[in-house]
Order: sequence, then C-alpha cells, then structure tokens
Amino acid sequence: MIVDVKMDSTQSLIYKPAGQFEETRFEKIHNIIFNDSIEASKVVAAEIAQLIKQKAEEGNMCVLGLATGSSPVKVYEELVRLHKEENLSFSNVITFNLDEYLPMQRDNLQSYYHFMHEHLFNHVDILPENINIPDGTISPEEIYQYCIDYELKIKEVGGLDFQLLGIGRTGHIGFNEPGSHYNSGTRAITLDHITREDAASSFLGIDNVPKKAITMGINTIKNAKRIILLAWGLNKAKVVQKTIEGNITSQIPATYLQEHLNTTFILDKESCSELIRIKTPWLVTSCIWTDELKKKAVFWLSEKVGKPILKLTDKDYNEYGMSGLLAEEGSAYDLNIKIFNKLQHTITGWPGGKPNADDTNRPERATPSKKRVIIFSPHPDDDVISMGGTFDRLVEQGHEVHIAYQTSGNIAVTDEDARKFAETAITLTSNTKKIEEILKDIENKKANSIDSIAVRALKGTIRRTESLAATRYLNVPDANVHFLNLPFYETGTVKKNNLSKEDIDKMCDLIEEIKPHQIYAAGDLADPHGTHKVCLDALFDAIDILKSKEYMNDCWVWLYRGAWFEWDSYEIDMAVPMSPDQVIKKRNAIFFHQSQKDKVMFRGDDTREFWVRAEDRNRLTAKKYHQLGMADYAAIEAFKRYYF
Ligand code: F6R
Repeated sequence: MIVDVKMDSTQSLIYKPAGQFEETRFEKIHNIIFNDSIEASKVVAAEIAQLIKQKAEEGNMCVLGLATGSSPVKVYEELVRLHKEENLSFSNVITFNLDEYLPMQRDNLQSYYHFMHEHLFNHVDILPENINIPDGTISPEEIYQYCIDYELKIKEVGGLDFQLLGIGRTGHIGFNEPGSHYNSGTRAITLDHITREDAASSFLGIDNVPKKAITMGINTIKNAKRIILLAWGLNKAKVVQKTIEGNITSQIPATYLQEHLNTTFILDKESCSELIRIKTPWLVTSCIWTDELKKKAVFWLSEKVGKPILKLTDKDYNEYGMSGLLAEEGSAYDLNIKIFNKLQHTITGWPGGKPNADDTNRPERATPSKKRVIIFSPHPDDDVISMGGTFDRLVEQGHEVHIAYQTSGNIAVTDEDARKFAETAITLTSNTKKIEEILKDIENKKANSIDSIAVRALKGTIRRTESLAATRYLNVPDANVHFLNLPFYETGTVKKNNLSKEDIDKMCDLIEEIKPHQIYAAGDLADPHGTHKVCLDALFDAIDILKSKEYMNDCWVWLYRGAWFEWDSYEIDMAVPMSPDQVIKKRNAIFFHQSQKDKVMFRGDDTREFWVRAEDRNRLTAKKYHQLGMADYAAIEAFKRYYF
C-alpha cells in the first residue's frame, strides 16, 4: 500500500511501478523519487502511522522491523511528532531492530540500542517489553541459540508487518554483507571494510569500529509483508542503480528485494541520479528537451562515442536515442555549435567579472568592477580545497574578499595534535592551570567519549590559526576573515543539532553587514546529515529572509562542490581555469591546514589527502572540457549558479 503522494508535474512523470512503463523498463523494484529526504520521510512515516492505526482498529498488534543509521532519522522524527501532536499511539506496536554491533554495550553512544532510544523509543508510548534489539553483549557461545530465538520471537508475534531499511554502499541491507545467502536468518556476521569505513566517522576512527555485528537475515527481511527502503544522497546513487536495474546477485544483497513484491524504494533527487531514466532518459523514452537536458545529452554522447562536440554526426545522435532532439534542432551541425558555444561561455579567468569587457556571454557581470565577495566555507579548509584557485584570482583581481568559516571544525583535530599544542603552550606561561586541565582531559578521555569544552575550544583554535595562515598567504586581511562558529555544530560528536534561529541569524548578520555582490558556498548534497548540507541549508534560509532587500538584487550565488564530488560537466555555469603555478599555490594554501594532513580523521573511503583529491578533481574537469573540444588547461574549478 502506498499512501497518497502529492507530486508536482515532473514527479508524476516518474511515479510509475517498476518495469511497467517505457521509461522504467530497466527497473526491477518499485521506487518513488522525492525532491528531498525530509518530504519523503514524512510520507514514509504517514504510511507507518496508518498501518499502526489500522492494526489498532482491528484490535491487533503492529509488528515493525526497524533500521538505524542516517537514513531513517527523519522518519523517526516525524513519527515522534505524530505521537506528540496527533495522538499516534505506539501501545499496540512491537518492534524488532535489524541489527547491532558486536560486541557492543547498550550504553555506548554508538550502540543501536542508544540510537533507537534517542531517536524514537524515549519519545513515544511503546511498552519497553515490546522493543527487541539484538543484544551486542551476547557471548560467542550463546550467539547461535540467541539468533534462533530472535527469529522465533518474530514468528510468534505473527511476522513483520512492515520492515524499514537503509542500504549500505556495499549493497547490504541490515548487515547482510556481500555473499549473504538469500535464505539466511538472524546470525553473526563480519562487517565489510567499506561498511566500517562508512561508520568510522561516528566512531572517531576506523580502529574503533567493531568488526562484527548481529543481523537479521535476508530471509527474515523478505518475510516482511511490506518493505520500504530509504536511500538519500549521491553516495548511494551507484548502489541504488545496481540494486534496481542489475541482476540478482549475492554480491549486492539488496538485489534479493527484486523478488519481494511489496517493496518500494524511496529515493531523493541525488540517490536516483544513476537510474537510466534519470541519467540518460533519451535512451528509454521521448523527452521534453529543456536546455539543461540538451547539454546533458550532448556531453554524454560526446563522451560515449569519444568525439569532441563539434565532430558529432547525425548518425551518432540517431544511434543513441536522440533523433527527436535532432528533429527539434535541425541538424547535428546546428546543435553542436549551439552546445559548444554554451560550454565555451562557461570558461572565464575573471570569476568576479572582467572589467570594461562585454559581458553578454560571460558567466559574471563586468560591473561593479570591484565586487564585495563572501566565500562561505563549511569547515575551516573547504575554501582552499574546493576553490583555492578562484579565491586567489578574486583577491588578485582586486575584489573585497571575505571568508566566512561556518563551523569550528573542532572534532576533526586529533588528541595528539591538541596535546602537542597544549604542551607547547604550557612552556610559555607561568599560569599553567588551564592548560594542565586540558592535558588531563585529553589523558583521561575514554574511547568514543566526547571532548571537554576546554579541549574542544583548543581544537577549534588550532583550526582557526591554520585558516588564518592560509588566508594571509592568499593576501586576505584578518579583518575580512570571519569565524561564525555556528552553534548547530557544537555537539562534540559527529551527530549535529538541527539548525536554530541563532545559526540563521549569524548568517544573516554577516550578509547584511557585507552586502555582497557574490556569495560562494559549498553546494554539497551528498549526505543529507553532513555538515556541508546543513551549512548550505543555513545559507538558503538566510537568503530567504534577506532576498527582499535591495542589495540582494545585485547578489549572485555560486556553488562549489566540497572534497568528495564535482559537478557534472553539464551542470557547470562557471569554469575557472588554473595555470600549473596556480595549482601549486592552491596546494600550498591547503598545506597550511596541517591538522587535516597526513592523518585525516574524516576522509571517507578515499585514502588520499585533501590536496591530492582537489588536484585530481580539478585536473579531471579540465580533461573533460578538453575532451569536449575546449583548450587543454592544467586544471579547472567549477561552479553552478544558484538562483533565488
Ligand atoms: C542499520 C542497518 C544498515 C543501514 C545502512 C545504511 O540498522 O542495518 O543496513 O541501514 O548501512 O546506513 P545509513 O542510513 O547510515 O547510510
């Protein structure tokens, strides 16, 4: 059963059962795509609430299989709201959680026991005896029987009415890692390395992530009467595509869900982006050719057939499902030139606009020739990692450049670094009391526990001084460097608070003070709970509040991508080439962020240092531009304009 989903015209186009329509013919699992995870989570919570109520009316218990991780957080938030504001009762609910780390104490902040109570159970009227979460303290001798009993308990209450799932990048559901058998039951399992990498940031380092877990099996999950799997963000796009469009394989255990006929995947605009009908819709259906889609299709074709844009022929277009586009545009010749020009017009060495030049075909306005610019940087280093070359140009070309570090970035400094600075500081003063306390706090810190306020402050200061070294190197006066220390970030853990008025006020105050002509910000949408996305939301909220002000009519917003992804070529509105010397200068600026070098705490599954990633990425963008037929630049930084 799908609850009534209200969709706009573009969404209704893709609200179709799997494989039943021309554009979904590659799809083997029903899925619904939403604009964002918040809207989607509300719909999922509504379906769960409806099921709970229906069961209550029938006088029955409702048996829910629940998941943890970042994906279901907003669903639980909405269920709590429905309980508090709309009297949804959980008194007839029995829950079974999918999994738990092994070994794991219940009171450990990383335990799924803790997670479930923090996000759901502590806030609703579920009876404690109706909550079932695999026990992470079970001994190896007892585990076999324990798992059999867990299965039996699910059967005794009539099986799972509903199972909520997330999906790991390995394709795991629950912790059924690649290789899991379709007939598997609840059992102990060794976690895949990628899964442990993904969990590393919550555990403050991969070494602290348990190697094992207890998980419900594939068969346990498949016996649920209804299954909903949630997937948000670009990180999940590839595995979502393989799961929905690929063949069933134990290497991607989520593909077993193709055999479950009441499963729906709930996706957002990013996680669905690799599906054929989204990525290359011209291959499966007749398209409405918007300007953006034309660019996307021509760039794709150029890459596919390995020819620059100006060498594409009618035959190339016809062979790859684009005859409709050709009919609209006349000939390959006309279309090629049109798209080639569009691409060429994105390139500029003058990111703040070229003074006294005709700007009709340039990405930025020529006037005013000296612009006020704010570069928002979520952490103290994203500015140089993501747009160090453009940053440098803007300063050199005489614009008034302000840097605003949105968060303190304190959790990403190691204890060893903090200790090094404290031990240096203590030699310089006779007033050592405060520093001694810091050193004691570091020494006495238990694994996985939160830093004391004083240690966090020191770690924040380390990042602050590194940032100032970098901004000074790029000739920005200290007065133009702003440390916003947005409060949402200051939890001492990876899990952050929601944005509050105080966060938005700080953003608004700075924009109001500078009245910028240009704002640069990290447009990362990869992880809905990541700091970059929250920082972007804070900016969008601030813009919403300020957009009626006169000076905002003159303000353009440019989004760069953080360390993990780059814009697709067709999305780029401004491409700023860098010379080999500028690449080195950018590298030097990144080097000032020493606490983030050598041993990066939160690097994701990419083991390369940030400067290497940044250089590779910028080189790759330049290479793509070259392959499309542009000049051969050493590196390019890319931006997409955000219209408000
Ligand atoms: C959690 C679980 C896992 C997660 C998956 C996705 O109980 O069993 O399968 O659902 O690892 O995690 P997130 O949502 O954090 O990306």
